[in-house]
Amino acid sequence: MLVERISKVKVIQLSDIHLTAEDNASLYGINPYYRLEEALKSIYVHHSDADFITITGDLTDSASAKAYAILKDMLDKNELPIYPILGNHDKRDIFANYFPNLFNDGFVQYVKKIDANVHIFLDTLVEDQSYGELCLNRLNWLEDRLKEYQQEPIYLYMHHHPIDSGLYEMDNNANFRSKKEFWDLLKNYKNVKHISFGHLHRIMHSQKCNISLHSTRSTSFQVAYQQESKVEYLTNEEQPTYAVIEMIEEENTRIHHHEFMNEDRFYLGDC
Ligand SMILES: [Fe+2]
Ligand SMILES: [Fe+2]
Repeated sequence: MLVERISKVKVIQLSDIHLTAEDNASLYGINPYYRLEEALKSIYVHHSDADFITITGDLTDSASAKAYAILKDMLDKNELPIYPILGNHDKRDIFANYFPNLFNDGFVQYVKKIDANVHIFLDTLVEDQSYGELCLNRLNWLEDRLKEYQQEPIYLYMHHHPIDSGLYEMDNNANFRSKKEFWDLLKNYKNVKHISFGHLHRIMHSQKCNISLHSTRSTSFQVAYQQESKVEYLTNEEQPTYAVIEMIEEENTRIHHHEFMNEDRFYLGDC
């Protein structure tokens, strides 16, 4: 089914799919494979006009080879292109066995130019750590890309959150540790439009240096909103989402977070 397209950019973001070593395994009471299949079904029905799907990291829960193999098989069967990046639960060398073409200079960082728009995918993984960073090599790679595409609108994708979330664990232990260098670089480029990230397992929106940012929920389990707590709580009471990211006018990026499970819950009415 072809959906009529009105926006200049349309990207679907899945995040933190956390695939387990066995496809029938339960993760905090849910099956991440079933959740991913339901998300892809919904995207096929409603967003076949999208430019692509991205998965913003934590592709697996424990970096098992079997999970990457099943993911590769699922993505190969999908009609839309799917561009994954790595999160803190992933491992580069195992990922590389299944997705060897997404590496540049030893990291999972790459560019997709679609029409007039440039999408840059970043690798913030520090292996075996929950925090993330862009080391000098990765910052230099990003700077080279920003210099290369100074005339085009740029969209960035990364796993770790480049701004504080207000959640203690996320901002103190599982944080992005290259914030200063990252923003010192970005503030020189006025054509960066939006940053999509994952890791929080929550919906969050923000803005910095005239760049809008957002995260969407995990397709599997969620992180509870507990600003006062120094302990991280998880929840399955909040439904999983995918984000629909569209650029309508030159400066207007709109984002919807769609709860894709139980799509028959809708009813007619006024609001
Ligand atoms: Fe995650
Ligand atoms: Fe993460």
